[in-house]
Amino acid sequence: MSDNNRSGWRRLWQQPKSKWLLGIPLGAFLALVLGGIGVYGTQVVLHATSTDDFCMTCHSNHSLRDEVLASSHGNNSVGITVTCAQCHLPPGGFEYLVKKIIVSKDIIGYMTIDGFNTQEWLEANRKEQADLARDYLRSIDSRTCTSCHSNIYENQPESMKKVAKRMHAMNFKKTEDKRKTCIDCHKGVAHPYPKG
Ligand code: HEC
Ligand code: HEC
Ligand code: HEC
Ligand code: HEC
Repeated sequence: MSDNNRSGWRRLWQQPKSKWLLGIPLGAFLALVLGGIGVYGTQVVLHATSTDDFCMTCHSNHSLRDEVLASSHGNNSVGITVTCAQCHLPPGGFEYLVKKIIVSKDIIGYMTIDGFNTQEWLEANRKEQADLARDYLRSIDSRTCTSCHSNIYENQPESMKKVAKRMHAMNFKKTEDKRKTCIDCHKGVAHPYPKG
């Protein structure tokens, strides 16, 4: 490396003479810009992996999406179709990334489980898979559900059925460790829960 070049690099980390960078060394400024691009890239990836199409790339021969469309979460009077990610992935933050990494484990499953992407596999393994999904939702206290259903226990709408109000109120009165989570009482809200 020539002397000329070395002093060039050193200059990158020195205060610029002009005021336009508010006195931030140019190197730090570049690091900020590149870091910004990195965060943006991560956002793009997270976004792309949160669509139903992404989920259905591996689950393409499973009836999962049709089941949602036939359920109250796809076919309702309010005109909302709930996405896979809205129920299965926690909203935002660190947790979200952790769950993504766990989903990435499915890449190995996808490549190694014999006949995974067939309806027969889904039906044969539905109970086990449903319980895995339920374990996860239980571990986050069904928080994906409550991000939409925010008035179950308090400020309940007039229109909520009497029996629903009563059951919800009864559950809410219990101490937190005794309280049931949404999916303990509500099975099969989007896919038919297997019997037995
Ligand atoms: C790379 C392929 C792949 C992609 C993409 C994928 N899955 Fe899966 N998924 C699998 C495999 C394989 C299994 C079963 C094996 C296992 O549990 O690891 C599975 C199982 C599941 C289960 C049941 C088991 C559990 O751990 O909860 C749910 C729920 C699920 N996937 C939801 C989703 C959602 C939601 C998305 C989109 C955000 C998605 N999957 C994207 C391959 C994939
Ligand atoms: C993106 C928003 C959203 C999410 C997330 C969501 N729901 Fe819903 N849910 C709705 C809408 C919209 C309806 C239909 C309301 C209507 O028809 O008036 C509904 C209806 C329901 C109903 C009444 C109909 C039925 O099937 O019995 C229950 C119970 C329910 N949801 C439970 C859940 C549970 C449990 C979860 C989490 C696993 C969940 N919801 C996640 C929006 C959501
Ligand atoms: C102790 C059991 C229990 C728990 C826990 C519970 N529910 Fe319910 N819920 C019921 C019953 C019973 C009904 C009335 C019958 C039905 O619609 O399934 C009901 C009804 C509902 C309805 C339809 C209300 C209406 O009439 O408009 C929604 C939506 C709902 N629950 C969502 C939730 C969510 C979200 C959670 C978690 C925050 C939850 N429930 C927790 C038992 C429970
Ligand atoms: C309204 C919330 C909701 C939506 C939307 C939803 N799921 Fe689920 N899913 C659940 C719950 C809750 C379970 C656990 C089993 C149960 O209670 O029925 C589950 C179970 C599963 C399972 C395990 C097998 C089974 O049938 O139980 C897979 C795989 C799965 N979901 C994938 C998907 C995919 C892919 C989508 C989008 C096309 C999707 N889910 C949309 C709530 C949802």
